[in-house]
Amino acid sequence: MSPSNAFGSVLRRVSAAAATVSAITAGSTRTLSRRTLITTSYETTVRRYINISTLCPLHQTAILSQGANMEQRKPFTADFFFRQLFDEQSHTYSYLLADIASKEAILIDPVLEQATRDAKLIEELGFTLKFALNTHMHADHVTGTGYLKQLLPGTLSVISKNSGAKADRHLVDNETVKFGRHELRALCTPGHTNGCMTFVVEEQGCAFTGDTLLIRGCGRTDFQEGDSRTLYRSVHDRIFTLPDNFRLFPAHDYKGNMETTVAEEKRYNPRLTKDIEAFVELMGNLNLPYPKMIDKAVPANRECGLFDIPKES
Ligand SMILES: [Fe+2]
Repeated sequence: MSPSNAFGSVLRRVSAAAATVSAITAGSTRTLSRRTLITTSYETTVRRYINISTLCPLHQTAILSQGANMEQRKPFTADFFFRQLFDEQSHTYSYLLADIASKEAILIDPVLEQATRDAKLIEELGFTLKFALNTHMHADHVTGTGYLKQLLPGTLSVISKNSGAKADRHLVDNETVKFGRHELRALCTPGHTNGCMTFVVEEQGCAFTGDTLLIRGCGRTDFQEGDSRTLYRSVHDRIFTLPDNFRLFPAHDYKGNMETTVAEEKRYNPRLTKDIEAFVELMGNLNLPYPKMIDKAVPANRECGLFDIPKES
């Protein structure tokens, strides 16, 4: 069917549906058949799409999905526990993952002020916290790893070797961290800081990108060891090469978004869809204010992966 014929067909169906709606409004429900209801619902849907397409709405949805390279969702396995947690002060997401069978858990990017909340949740769920990991040495909040080691004895702190921070365990590129039968793989994704890592759980089709890649954004590159050219390469070489349907979970969001996918960011990230020179120029001209917490957070985070830091009262 040619586009003009398709458009005519849509208009005829919309007109028929409109006539049916008129009849119902006039009190004539005699013709209210199953087909009519479908047609009326069809009219609503067509109106939503008619400005951008002459194709039927289902076909339109399919095309939009193809545009973002959406592939089938990969569900979590039944024995994989996932919980996204939020700190409203620093807009930080922490992630509690666990093997439901063995009860071994890990916590990614915990926040000091939320450590008692997290410890309580872990105890309520009957989990044993094996590792408290940081994707990088944060500048906007103090990590909860030190305090969690005090609250949940036996917990080990983990961060990348390149971070320069103290911890019980230091990760190098492609090293794996196991919890029960599950494991994550740590990829070096520097650029926001030298020690930034992205944690990938292949089997579950998800990755935790820290500040390297945010939803429709990325971490700033104008402090610590920030380097925009390096960050661009990290995202394109290590994160955008993951399968399109992988779900991505960042360390922060400031607009209420909770997760994204590789396909979405490859298509819609306003920064990382630029070429590298345009990206470097953009990142060099953000003129962001000096981070409020950096003078407190970075020195503490350099140490507290290893030492207990009780919450201030
Ligand atoms: Fe950061």
